[in-house]
Amino acid sequence: MKFFVDTADVGKIKDLAETGMVDGVTTNPSLVAKTGRDFSEVIAEICSIVSGPVSAEVAATDAPTMIAEGRKLHNIAENVTVKVPLTVDGLKACRTLSDEGTMVNVTLCFSSAQAILAAKAGATFVSPFVGRLDDIGSNGMELIRDICEIYANHTAFKTEILVASVRHPMHVVESARLGVDVVTIPPSAIRQLYNHPLTDKGLDAFLKDWAGTGQSIL
Ligand code: E4P
Repeated sequence: MKFFVDTADVGKIKDLAETGMVDGVTTNPSLVAKTGRDFSEVIAEICSIVSGPVSAEVAATDAPTMIAEGRKLHNIAENVTVKVPLTVDGLKACRTLSDEGTMVNVTLCFSSAQAILAAKAGATFVSPFVGRLDDIGSNGMELIRDICEIYANHTAFKTEILVASVRHPMHVVESARLGVDVVTIPPSAIRQLYNHPLTDKGLDAFLKDWAGTGQSIL
């Protein structure tokens, strides 16, 4: 399972990239707005740090402008993945850009029916938003289970499932259990993945006992 980082914060991406577990990055207009920086500059900088797919989202809502924006974004770097919303125009843009050899991430997917359409449109990735479904009392991971089952039944579908809107470690663990291709995780949830109180407690005890020996390894 690939790990993407869900942020446009270059400092955080650099820091996490040092762990060697960053396979790609996803951004969206809200995440870019938070940085207060120029969109193209941010995407170019991220692409210079991470060699895997870096999602950059179009801002237009009509297919011809989405396609023009997508081509411009793709020119920033070879690994730019153009992100389009799951709308009729978004799927038209997906088909055109995919046929041109550009990676496309179809975002804002909230149903299995939408995921089928993304695959039919030749998307490289489809992004179902599990956290936002949980937020409205639906079960986000149920949707992932459904999409996994549907895609497994249709080998012609080459689209990778990219679990998005991840809020906590169980979204990641359950995604791994279901065999999804990619999970995009915000830096805050990545920190939660590392943390366990017994790890901290155990380390404290080891360090205390080690100090008592008066020894040093170096
Ligand atoms: C995915 O590509 C989106 O950028 C992201 O996962 C949305 O997450 P949110 O629901 O936390 O905003």
